[in-house]
Amino acid sequence: MIYLDHAATSWPKPPEVIRAMVDLLERAGGNPGRSGHRLSIEAGRIVYAAREAVAEFFGAPDPMRVVFTANVTTALNLALRGLLRPGDRVVTSSIEHNSVMRPLRALERQGVRLTVVPCAADGRLDPGALARAVEPGTRLVVLNHASNVMGTILPVAEAATIAHDAGALLLVDAAQTAGVLPIHIMALKIDLLAFTGHKGLQGPPGTGGLVIAPWVDVTTLEPLVRGGTGSRSEFEEQPDLLPDKYESGTANSVGIAGLGAGVRFVQERGVEAIRAHELELARTLYDGLAGLPEVTVYGPPDAALRTGTVSFTVAGRQVSEFGLRLDEEYNILCRVGLHCAPAAHRTLGTFPQGTVRLAVGLGTTLAEVHTTLQAVERIIRA
Ligand SMILES: Cc1ncc(COP(=O)(O)O)c(C=O)c1O
Repeated sequence: MIYLDHAATSWPKPPEVIRAMVDLLERAGGNPGRSGHRLSIEAGRIVYAAREAVAEFFGAPDPMRVVFTANVTTALNLALRGLLRPGDRVVTSSIEHNSVMRPLRALERQGVRLTVVPCAADGRLDPGALARAVEPGTRLVVLNHASNVMGTILPVAEAATIAHDAGALLLVDAAQTAGVLPIHIMALKIDLLAFTGHKGLQGPPGTGGLVIAPWVDVTTLEPLVRGGTGSRSEFEEQPDLLPDKYESGTANSVGIAGLGAGVRFVQERGVEAIRAHELELARTLYDGLAGLPEVTVYGPPDAALRTGTVSFTVAGRQVSEFGLRLDEEYNILCRVGLHCAPAAHRTLGTFPQGTVRLAVGLGTTLAEVHTTLQAVERIIRA
């Protein structure tokens, strides 16, 4: 089997991740941060070690400003719904995932003023266009670091400067880049970084989080959920302590143990090495597809401007046919359609049919990429 759906979730997971999850259940199955006995303390220690690993990985000085959530969608909702009030202005791009667009459209109905800056047809965002849209007094700029549809990387460092010059915060959706591109929140000056654990970070589903930069004033960031935290239990009001303010309810300690192991695995491999590997594969894939006259490949031709995700369509053919035939006839797993990002497909001109998306990962080989290119060509010719 050739697995080319890493943009949806990475697979297979490193054995270290699976071992860490089993180990927690077998050896440290108490409720972290709740009881005082050894099983609870050990579970709490593992969760804290994962928090430290995530903080170090993203260059965040304070592990207590790493808030664990069920996925990046929850982290994005926490930031968007926690920060934005009626009358606030928020700016985003035209290639965002629905995990940003849907909460923003709901907030717009409640009086938040939303500006969507159009990206080019290859998904690139012109920093000049962004700067013109981010008026002084804007509350938030929210951008994905890279598109999940065609892999185009957005200029988040420039966006941070633009946001800060206008007095706004920058929220980055790093679903497609955490573990795949180097991300240092202090160097890039990212205020809020939302990540998911089950893609490039090699962790299990059900994990993710929000990393909050040290300079962000959290008094104006409301929690999404309130409840038991194991701390300040004498009060009926939500505590202000971090991360407890945003982490009510029993933590997904099993998942977080796996996430911690995934982050350590990626760190040992080295993000630069992973990036170099994926860059070569994505370049070969894109160039091979672009060489077929019937095929249109999306995203910028320069591989350095993309992640390992490549999207294409074939003139006169349904994308669903390709997904099915790659799977059934060639044992190649990919994803076709709109990839939860209709805005991105409108930008590319591929709405409503969508594209065939091939997404390489750290275990993908060059031989698998060549086999896939041959399979696509055979389906076109058959
Ligand atoms: C850019 C982007 N944002 C958000 C998400 C949502 O991720 P999750 O389902 O892990 O919350 C995805 C996942 O496909 C994504 O690619």
